[in-house]
Parts: sequence; structure tokens; C-alpha cells
Amino acid sequence: MKPFYITTPIYYASGEPHIGHAYTNLMADITARYYRMTGREVRFLTGTDEHGMKVARNAQAAGLEPQTFVDEKAARFRELADAWNITIDDFIRTTEDRHKVSAAAFWKAVNKNGYIYKKTYKGLYCVPCESFKTEKDLVKGKCPDHDAVPELLEEENYFFKLSAFEDRLKTFYAENPEFVTPEHHRNEMVQILERGLEDISISRSTKQLTWGIPVPGDEGQVLYVWFDALVNYISAIGYARGKKDAMHLYWPADIHFVGKEINRFHSLLWPAMLMAAKVEPPRQIAVHGWITVDGKKMSKTIGNVLDPFDLIERYGLEPVRYFMAREIPFYRDGDFSHERFEMRYNNDLANELGNLLNRAIAMTERYLDGVVPDESVYDVTKRWTKYRAGMESLRFDDALLSVWKLVQAMNKHIDETEPWKLGKQEDLKPVSDVLYVLLESLRHIAWMLLPFMPGTAMLIFEGIGTSFIEQAPLSLSDASKWGGLKPGSVVKRAELLFPRIESKESE
Ligand code: MSP
Repeated sequence: MKPFYITTPIYYASGEPHIGHAYTNLMADITARYYRMTGREVRFLTGTDEHGMKVARNAQAAGLEPQTFVDEKAARFRELADAWNITIDDFIRTTEDRHKVSAAAFWKAVNKNGYIYKKTYKGLYCVPCESFKTEKDLVKGKCPDHDAVPELLEEENYFFKLSAFEDRLKTFYAENPEFVTPEHHRNEMVQILERGLEDISISRSTKQLTWGIPVPGDEGQVLYVWFDALVNYISAIGYARGKKDAMHLYWPADIHFVGKEINRFHSLLWPAMLMAAKVEPPRQIAVHGWITVDGKKMSKTIGNVLDPFDLIERYGLEPVRYFMAREIPFYRDGDFSHERFEMRYNNDLANELGNLLNRAIAMTERYLDGVVPDESVYDVTKRWTKYRAGMESLRFDDALLSVWKLVQAMNKHIDETEPWKLGKQEDLKPVSDVLYVLLESLRHIAWMLLPFMPGTAMLIFEGIGTSFIEQAPLSLSDASKWGGLKPGSVVKRAELLFPRIESKESE
């Protein structure tokens, strides 16, 4: 089977990373880790989008050469991926030679096939979107996504015959009902298709903008930033670069993860561009919603912008990863608030998961000298089925719900069987039976948590008397069978997993 190829958008190297970027990275990372866990080889790409007007202007405002400016910003996006433990295999920058070569070759292919022409154009351009807008896209004369007044641009540009792909895209959508997921985001694209597609400008005159990839054969024009940026997904795997070309190994991409504001570029423009170059479209565009803070859109003026570095500094990375996946479901907008975070942390992580682990280990030490007893039986197949269905449909919230059902069932099992009473009996079989179920369930829980909280999962493995090194070689079908924890292993009292957060009010 071909490696599972996953991408995030390449982020504008025009400003600092924010929580939205961290969120997309995280969604892709959870997916990457899950597929690796199932035994698939995975290739995971992210990077930075470094050309265009927005970058050029911000560099100028900072008093830096564009290249110096983007070098600094790209380094910050790499730091973000490291800090959030995002397991990327490659980081592509559109100012790298490898990208420029592929992007120019891509242009030539589209041109050779007859889909590029020149015309004079006048239109309203939103710089933060890096996109032309029509009057009907605007609200009170402003771009609603950025609250920005678009600028009037008039120049001779190269155009891409997007309109020529209307029918092919319609057929493609009909034949690939899961191309865009979730469904409401697919429907938006279908509606745009029904209304009809217009050709789009895919270059800028160097009189307006010099910071870009030169149009092959025309010194006076540079590639429009989106026409340049989308190609990253294939330039990173060597498109049209001779011996470096690994398209046959990785393409088509299995999932492009994107935020809803850039759905159209990925779900309509990109497949059309690929069709024009005679390259197969990607398999799926997975579109997620926006994060709001305390119910409001993040904005510098309101002052509610969440910094992805500060957030994990304050709470620790793994609880933040957990919260994002649990509370900000992929398929719709989700809200972050410190209150809600602390509630989830104290309830799910400290009380339910942390206590379960502590109690299981402490009782094994007290009643069985820390030795994992002989196997007893419990059925976890339903939990795995729901978990896997959630993971494979990007419903990470549902997957985690299934994990927590198991956590809760085990806490209930303790309350009902009262092992502290059983432990005092002469016959140790009843308490052993309860403790084996608890410890082995925790092994399953740790496996299920690997994509979300890998460090926590490893601590759980060690606590219950196994280790990541011992578990990792197992295939998922073996790991998810009951009875993987070996009797005779010795549990190890762990540091307190999730010490409670005392909220400001109670201080
Ligand atoms: N450079 C383009 C993408 C080119 S891909 C060929 C771009 N960059 S961006 O820096 O603006 O990043 C966009 C991504 O950031 C969105 O797709 C989304 O993943 C993420 N988010 C930005 N704001 C967000 C929220 N408030 N909430 C969640 N994610 C959001 O667009």
C-alpha cells in the first residue's frame, strides 16, 4: 500500500504563528500518529507560504529584506511544530529552490495544455486573503473574513481557464462523494460549482509586486501567490524534478487538512489546476472550523488572541492537545475558554484518568506486592470499534468519548467491587480479578491515547508494568486483543499524572 500522505496548509510567513495554525497541525498530527499506529507508512508535510503581497508588505514594514523576514518567520513555524510535538516528515518553504523549480514546471505544463492566457483585468483585491473579491463577497464594502477594505488593482495578467473545468469538477464531485469532508463544507463547494466558475488571474505584474516566482518566459510577471503555494503539495515530493521525482510513491495525497476559509482554493481551484497539468487530484480535503475564544472571533483589537506557545507553557502540552481534540471538534467551530479548559482538565484528566491510574497501581502494590496478577476477562471490543470509527472519520471527539467511557466504566468497576474489602480476604483471587481488569484496561486506554497524548500514554504503560518499547512493535490488531499485559510484571508508582488546577476563585 502506498504511504498515507497528509498535509497541512503552508502558513503565511507574514506574522507570528497563532492558535489556528497549531490547531490544524494538531488535527493532522493526530491523524498521522493514528495511521502509523495502524501500521501504515505515513508522510506528513507542513511548511510556509512565503511569497505574495502580504509577506512583501510586512517585511517592508519590519524594515527587512523579504528573504531575511521569511527566514525568521519560517523558523517560528518550525518551532511551533516542535513545541506541539507535531511529527512532520518534511517542512517545505516556497522560497526554496526545490519548490521554485517544480512550480515553474507546473506552470509550463498548464500553459502547454492550453489553459493559460493573458488579459487586462481590474478588480478588488483583499491583501490578507491574497484573493480578488466580487462586490457580492463584501459586507459593507469590506472582506468579512478580515474586516479589510479591498484595494482596486488593474493590470495585464495571465489567466487560468478555471471555467473550462466546471463540468469535469461536477463529474469528479459526483464520482467522489467524500472528496470534501464534512458534508456541509462539500455542499458549499457544490453550490459554488452550480453558480459557475470564472477564470482567475494567476500572475502579478512586477510593477506591483516583485516578491514571487517569475512566470516562465515573462520577466515582467510573477506567479500569483495561491498558484505558487498550492503546488507545494507536489513540489515537496519532487514534481517534475527528474531523479528527485517521487510522485509515483506518494501522490495522490490522502488528506489535505485546511481551515474553512481556504476550502475553495483547495477543493475547486487545486483539483482544476491538477487536471490542467494532467495530474490526478488529491483523495480528500478535510475542512475544519474556526476556534473562537470566549465565544468571540479572535482579534488583536479585542485582545483575545491565544498564543500557542503561552498556552502550552501555562498548562502543559498534553492537556492542551487533549482539550483541543475533545472540545473543538473537527466538523464545526469550537470555543476555547480558560474556565472550560480547567473544567475538562480537572474532571477528565485529574479526576477520571489520573485517579484511575493511581488507584489501580496503589491497590496492586498494597494487595499484590505490585505484581500483575493472572488474567481475568473484560470485553473492550465495543470501545475499540467506536474509537476506530471516530478516528477514521475525523471525529476525534467521538473517539475520545469512547476512551472515556472505558475510563468511567473502570472507575465504576472499582466502586462496585470495592477491592479494598476484597484485598483483606484470605483468598486473593477476587481482588486479583478486579485488578487485572483495571490494569489491562489501562493498557488499552494508553494505546488509544497515543495519537492524542503520546507522553501520557507512555507513562501509563510504565505505571502498569509494561513500556512503550515493549508495546510499540505490536500490530494494532494484536495490541487491541485482551490480555496483552503479562502476569508477573511489576507495576511502578508514577508521578501524579495530572495534578488538579486550582482555579483563581478558590485561591
Ligand atoms: N498560506 C495560506 C495557505 C496556503 S495552502 C496552499 C494560508 N495561510 S494562513 O497562515 O492564513 O493559515 C491558514 C490556516 O490557519 C487555516 O487553514 C486554518 O488551518 C488556520 N486558521 C487560521 N485561523 C484560524 C482559527 N481562528 N481557527 C482555526 N484555524 C484557523 O491561508
